[in-house]
Amino acid sequence: MAITVHFELAVDAASSSALVVFVGAGGHLSAGAQAVESAGGGQLGRAMKAATFAGKKGKFVEILAPAGIASHRLIVAGIGDPAKADARVFEDVGGGIAERLQTLETKVVADFTGIADMAVGTDVAAVHFAHGLELRNWRLDTYRTKLKEEQKPKLTDVVLVGVAESAKPLNERLQKVAAGVHFTKWLVTQPGNVIYPESFVEHCRKAMEPLGIKITVLDDVQMKALGMGSLLGVGQGSVRRERIIAMEWNGLGEGAPAPLVLVGKGVTFDTGGISIKPAPGMEDMKWDMGGAGAVAGCLVALAGRKAKAHVVGVCGLVENMPDGNAQRPGDIVTSMSGQTIEVLNTDAEGRLVLCDVFTWAQQQYKPKVMLDFATLTGAILISLAHHYAGVFSNSDGLWGKLDKAGGAVNDLVWRQPLSEPGGHYDQLIDSNIADMKNLGTREGGSISAAQFLQRFVNEGVEWAHIDIAGAVWRPKSGPLHDKGATGFGVRLVDRFVADTLEA
Ligand code: BES
Ligand code: MN
Ligand code: ZN
Repeated sequence: MAITVHFELAVDAASSSALVVFVGAGGHLSAGAQAVESAGGGQLGRAMKAATFAGKKGKFVEILAPAGIASHRLIVAGIGDPAKADARVFEDVGGGIAERLQTLETKVVADFTGIADMAVGTDVAAVHFAHGLELRNWRLDTYRTKLKEEQKPKLTDVVLVGVAESAKPLNERLQKVAAGVHFTKWLVTQPGNVIYPESFVEHCRKAMEPLGIKITVLDDVQMKALGMGSLLGVGQGSVRRERIIAMEWNGLGEGAPAPLVLVGKGVTFDTGGISIKPAPGMEDMKWDMGGAGAVAGCLVALAGRKAKAHVVGVCGLVENMPDGNAQRPGDIVTSMSGQTIEVLNTDAEGRLVLCDVFTWAQQQYKPKVMLDFATLTGAILISLAHHYAGVFSNSDGLWGKLDKAGGAVNDLVWRQPLSEPGGHYDQLIDSNIADMKNLGTREGGSISAAQFLQRFVNEGVEWAHIDIAGAVWRPKSGPLHDKGATGFGVRLVDRFVADTLEA
């Protein structure tokens, strides 16, 4: 849920809310913490001792109806070594507060006065605390009709105390980014009967046109005329017709350079097609549009904060279903690039969608840099679990920038190998009958998928493929997300754009 952030000079003595104060490693109290310690006659110190709390990062002590102050509860939040307490640490602490208080309080008052020797300024720390709190506070309740009053989320406001007004622009910017992350989480969490190619497009229109994003949509008839036999082959077993959506944000106006192109895999449900998946866990395949969801959220974030950059997101939207009209294993399709593909497994459909989107997007927008986000392979979950996304890139420089941006915002990425065209891994997808097949070996399954995509990247384009099959959702909650959709990719791209296009 969206959060309203307020800036105040002092803690309102009559405040009925949750008061948060900070303690560093070794139990070092901030000035704000000292003030409540004095007001409560040593209650805070006794509680910290009883809880063997020494200010470790991510640890909290809670005192209900504390003596000497008007708050419902006092939360002492550990920040660890202050010299290492940077924006990421405060985001996680804010997230931890949202997790605890989401259903308990409407307002959090966080006192940032007098935290000694931090890695970042108080204002940066405070707005990132609010950012983490806002991100972690998101959840989808529209389908829960029987929530009891005490189960409903209530948290709507955070008051940052002792923070300079000069922090307001950064706060506003982070709130726009959070709106992008929330749009992604929303799209990704919706089931396949709600989000299908046409409805995905309509939700994007509604969210984006007010932000000044230009939307172009290709329908199946136009795609057929363009020769997108690969993408259309995936959708032909579904009653939902295919779409490509292009979302353009030009924050530079006329004469802007060629855009950064972001491509998203938008398989709104992946049954596997005729190579059907086993029933257990198939429901997870509603998340198979997570790449498209991430790209859409990126555009909402960038346009929302009016980024001084030219960025286009292009998503291929299809549903992969088994049917009398579905494509068969062994079918040979012709992609828009002219290259032919032997479809040996209809469940390796993501690459079949992306390749035609690559060809069209490069023809249309002539990018120098292209990133694609895709829930492409189960094999990346075997390699990296849910923690990192895998990156395959033809450019060391581009990889380095993604690694840096991801590390800064905790959307973590890890580089994976990629052969040159004709190289060892590339040969895995040579076909006996067509230009290539859509299936490599089980071993290195994420790599052969990336090699397939690389065959559709034009000469001279710096490209990175980001396999988010694991990172898009997590079975356990984290500091910035509940269990389920993570919104991975939005903050990564926001930072990447800031670092590389706006610097
Ligand atoms: N959408 C899946 C990949 C996936 C698996 C995403 C698990 C998230 C969680 C993709 O379309 C797929 O089915 N890939 C196959 C490829 C195989 C047939 C070569 C896979 O990973 O098993
Ligand atoms: Mn599949
Ligand atoms: Zn898939």
